[in-house]
Amino acid sequence: MSEENSSDKFVPALGFSWLTRIYDPVVGLTTREQRFKSALLAQAGLAAPMEVLDLACGTGTLAIRAKRQHPGCEITGIDADDRILKIARGKAKKEGQAINFQQGFSTKLPFRDRHFDRVLSSLFFHHLLPDAKQLTFREVHRVLKPGGQLHIADWGKPGSFLMRGLFYFIQLLDGFDNTRDNVQGRLPELMRQAGFRNVTTGREFSTMFGTMTLYSGQK
Ligand SMILES: C[S@@+](CC[C@H](N)C(=O)[O-])C[C@H]1O[C@@H](n2cnc3c(N)ncnc32)[C@H](O)[C@@H]1O
Repeated sequence: MSEENSSDKFVPALGFSWLTRIYDPVVGLTTREQRFKSALLAQAGLAAPMEVLDLACGTGTLAIRAKRQHPGCEITGIDADDRILKIARGKAKKEGQAINFQQGFSTKLPFRDRHFDRVLSSLFFHHLLPDAKQLTFREVHRVLKPGGQLHIADWGKPGSFLMRGLFYFIQLLDGFDNTRDNVQGRLPELMRQAGFRNVTTGREFSTMFGTMTLYSGQK
């Protein structure tokens, strides 16, 4: 499930790298992607000329949508997987959107302190083991400007027994240790531990694989 890349390891977009090429249709059909990504962008309150990071941007869908809606923002997308970044760059080029996509790990972000106004992240934190989650929250806190905000959409505490049952599929694909904090609703607590304030839990979406929850926090 996890894969070597440079000196680190990561869980690819659909758990296995050979599934990456079907990521966009799978996510589009199963996660109410349009709705929750629209809600995430609305929650983030982007405005020119903000510096925005899409953390673990995958195929770039969120970064491209953010740039389309806010052309005056500088959008950077980072992901551990070179192969998925190729897809992201191809999609941005096709749309004529200038987005800086680069390879890197969330646990060691290649950006200076206090660089970004907003960090966005969708469908990502459940890929990280508990230690990597903590490190990543600290790194995000470091690269945000004072007053800057983190906005997350990821699997949250299931809203019903049905949502809990459906989420087992994601756990089989992406791993049980990675996803435990998500399913226990612990992301807000981990954000606070990393120094975020005004941590909130926002909208929730029932999907074919569990409850998608929005969170936010401020530096
Ligand atoms: C499920 S995909 C989500 C992609 C995109 N954010 C979206 O909403 O469609 C998770 C992404 O996290 C990336 N990833 C996993 N571990 C990472 C890490 N430690 N640092 C950066 N990216 C990572 C994977 O390569 C994959 O592209």
